[in-house]
Amino acid sequence: MKIALFTDETGWHTRQLQAALRARGAEGRCIDLADCRIDTTAAWHGLVIPGFGRELPDAALVRGIAGGSFEQVTKRLGVLHALRELGVPVYNDARAIERSVDKSMTSLLLHAAGIPTPPTWATESLAEARRIAMREGAAGHALVLKPLFGSQGKGLQLVGDVAGAHHPVPELGPVYGSLAYLQRFVPAATDPGFDWRVLVVGARAVTAMRRVSAGWIHNVAQGARCEPAELTPALAALAKRAAAALAMDYAGVDMIPCASGTQVLELNGVAAWRGLQRVTGFNIARAIVDDLLDRKLAAARAGLRA
Ligand SMILES: Nc1ncnc2c1ncn2[C@@H]1O[C@H](COP(=O)(O)OP(=O)(O)O)[C@@H](O)[C@H]1O
Ligand SMILES: [Mg+2]
Repeated sequence: MKIALFTDETGWHTRQLQAALRARGAEGRCIDLADCRIDTTAAWHGLVIPGFGRELPDAALVRGIAGGSFEQVTKRLGVLHALRELGVPVYNDARAIERSVDKSMTSLLLHAAGIPTPPTWATESLAEARRIAMREGAAGHALVLKPLFGSQGKGLQLVGDVAGAHHPVPELGPVYGSLAYLQRFVPAATDPGFDWRVLVVGARAVTAMRRVSAGWIHNVAQGARCEPAELTPALAALAKRAAAALAMDYAGVDMIPCASGTQVLELNGVAAWRGLQRVTGFNIARAIVDDLLDRKLAAARAGLRA
């Protein structure tokens, strides 16, 4: 069995996945989606996946998609969409990756599913964004301005009422792609503050950690410390509902405590798990590979036979 590991970076994660696949008698081949092509003269299916010749992988696992031009990313996602249409299970599916990469779609779907998530706005109008920040600021709220496709806590800033002073929405330059995505800020309930990262694999929440830092941006990439956290039934249930709302095979769910309960901030469809693995007892790559082979691939094969 040959599994495509789509990644723009080989290293710890891909080695973990390859080892877990090997343990199941499968082979994981690393391929950069940037190197995949469409060539309608090459094979009946029209795709060129380096290392697979005219064949298609038995399944694909998406570990990373490099940033690029709108055209390049469209082609890369197109390859993932095409694989699914050709009956190759893709983990996470391109549609799930799109839903989770776009923070505004994530917010919309969480809201529609009745999952607690802070109030959110996405607008192309700077004037409208400033009006929202004024209105929210007058009610004593700060808002987090985020890049729509942001990750690792990069490019986040507070606007609205920040410690009693009004911070207007800045010019929405290239970092924000001329789009304001605003989410109401949830103030820390503890000092230092923290958030939760819960990993959902298949329909199960499998493990959780706290990310603790003095600053309010609790990403590991921003220096937050990972601490083991108990995966309570309430946290697990909320993370599972969030992953289901976006139809994700696996997801890193960011959640934050607040006075009224726990709020879901965002979901990661190509989540890294190195920090989480350090504080968790079981092998995460194995859980992902087992779910891919035993649930997703098995369902695709059962569908073919039916
Ligand atoms: N609305 C919010 N209220 C409080 N903290 C937030 C809020 N949004 C983001 N944060 C903090 O910033 C971090 C990064 O935000 P997130 O939405 O997860 O974007 P990224 O994709 O960059 O991880 C969160 O993990 C959390 O610690
Ligand atoms: Mg996050």
